[in-house]
Amino acid sequence: MRHLLSPLDFSVEELDKLLDLAGDIERNPDKYKEACKGKKIATLFYEPSTRTRLSFEAAMLNLGGSVLGFSSASSSSAAKGESVSDTIRMISCYADICAMRHPKEGAPLVASSKSRIPVINAGDGGHQHPTQTLTDLLTIRSLKGRLSNLTIGLCGDLKFGRTVHSLIEALVRYTDVKFVLISPDELRVPEYIREDVLAAHNIPFKEVRKLEDALPELDILYMTRVQRERFFNEEDYVRLKDSYILDKQKMTYAPDDMLILHPLPRVNEISVEVDDDPRAAYFRQVQYGVYVRMALILTLLETDLDSL
Ligand code: NCD
Repeated sequence: MRHLLSPLDFSVEELDKLLDLAGDIERNPDKYKEACKGKKIATLFYEPSTRTRLSFEAAMLNLGGSVLGFSSASSSSAAKGESVSDTIRMISCYADICAMRHPKEGAPLVASSKSRIPVINAGDGGHQHPTQTLTDLLTIRSLKGRLSNLTIGLCGDLKFGRTVHSLIEALVRYTDVKFVLISPDELRVPEYIREDVLAAHNIPFKEVRKLEDALPELDILYMTRVQRERFFNEEDYVRLKDSYILDKQKMTYAPDDMLILHPLPRVNEISVEVDDDPRAAYFRQVQYGVYVRMALILTLLETDLDSL
């Protein structure tokens, strides 16, 4: 049985297959509409989410399966003190697969060690968010036609942003990938990403403060929100929250074929006037998230695709 805890749990070849499957789902949705008939996904969300939880649910419903779950720790037995290990033992009796989001780093890993069903990490604290990364990879591959030979700018909260950590880990496995890390000093990418991931793979990267300086050379701009809930004090959040605001004026520095991605939710870091720019891809990204989660569910449930 396989789980998805980190973006590295799939090899590059396996990822290619998964993204191809997502592409086939996009082109032929009807072929898959009963592929998970009789199967259930449990969404165990100990932290708020709109997109990720609903996209897992939409994915399973599109496959003809059903969904159950909870959307906050306070509405689950965690509020009574139940451990993640006990919860997952019980969920294993109710569902065929589960997606877990938890504020503590490593909680899905703990769950997977006690689980009888595949566990998908749907975001663990400031650590990883592998299904957002699958979404990002599918978006980039579909809209740019490649995952190699790219200069990617990551902007905003690179310290606490788990989507950033997972995306960097996934992309260093492709050729000719360069990063421009755009953040205030206090929100730089964690040292383990700089040392153990970027430097260890000899990946060219630079750290800059000003978004305008980075824009002209980018193929992809990945914007992120400042993660208020992970700050230790409100003053630091207030001081840093408006560090970057992408607006029409700044977009004049960007190449015509640059794509703007954002895992969403957005707060104010992309001005709404940018939404109509053809380079804004963040709402298309949401749709790719459903296709890729459908492909992931089919893969982890070892569905026989030839019989569809
Ligand atoms: C992200 C997350 O939860 O890490 N959202 C998402 O899953 N699409 C990004 C964020 O919350 O800022």
